[in-house]
Amino acid sequence: MKIALVGMPGGGKSTVGKQLARQIGVPFVDSDQEIELRVGGSVKQFFEQHGEDAFRDLETETIADLIARPGDCVLATGGGAVLRDRNRGLLHDGATVLYLRSTPEDLYRRLRHDTTRPLLQVKDPLAKLRELHHLRDPLYRRCAHFVLESARPSVHALVNMALMQL
Ligand code: S3P
Repeated sequence: MKIALVGMPGGGKSTVGKQLARQIGVPFVDSDQEIELRVGGSVKQFFEQHGEDAFRDLETETIADLIARPGDCVLATGGGAVLRDRNRGLLHDGATVLYLRSTPEDLYRRLRHDTTRPLLQVKDPLAKLRELHHLRDPLYRRCAHFVLESARPSVHALVNMALMQL
């Protein structure tokens, strides 16, 4: 079985994904890391040099390859992966999809000192997180089989919630 994690940046997809993978004994894969291997640089650099559309094309190609790869895994996806219909379909049909849902305020608390997320390098990151959350929340819900929601949960609690859904 493949398990995919979707949700906003800072929602814990990589942290929860790694622990979940360890607990069920399958490899952990991160679509952003896979993209960085392919381009030989950071997502941030790629965004700056080639723009968001080119990044989204690469993201779709990468997700399609990862879903088609044989074997079980836990896959953490980039926060914008659900923007494309094709990605939502690939993930929904090829994996059990868990949406890690947090409020924009909690995301902001976790990300306010982060410099690696190109979309948040703006004057008012909290307003940006609210805007992205508003736009994407219905898309995450559409893509996911389960929503894991909790007010500031620990990683441990989230991993247990994820295990209960499987
Ligand atoms: C993005 C989130 C990032 C990364 C890219 C775009 C987004 O992944 O894919 O910077 O559109 O929200 P994380 O969710 O892992 O930060």
